[in-house]
Amino acid sequence: MAHIYLTDTEGREATIDIIAGNSLMQTITDAGFDDLLAICGGMCSCATCHVYIDEGQLAQLSQMNEDEQELLSLSDYQQDNSRLSCQLRMSDALDGLRVTIAPAD
Ligand code: FES
Repeated sequence: MAHIYLTDTEGREATIDIIAGNSLMQTITDAGFDDLLAICGGMCSCATCHVYIDEGQLAQLSQMNEDEQELLSLSDYQQDNSRLSCQLRMSDALDGLRVTIAPAD
């Protein structure tokens, strides 16, 4: 089964199986990582599902839309590899994706 490698805000690492079609946010929260708050439930309006993606894997992901860009720009912790995990759809092609949960604003 395809999977991602996740690091949480305290540096703990985990390997999580992917279910194709689920969002990355759902993948992380379903695995029990409650430091990804995802307050708006995936409506792209809170930015509490902020993650960092391994720089070398960014090109594998879908393009960011304007709403995602705008929300991320408001974060004190935005980096070049920032994404909102609710906006990323899982697929087997993302096997091995390395993801780190960003600190909460
Ligand atoms: S869960 Fe709110 S923006 Fe992603």
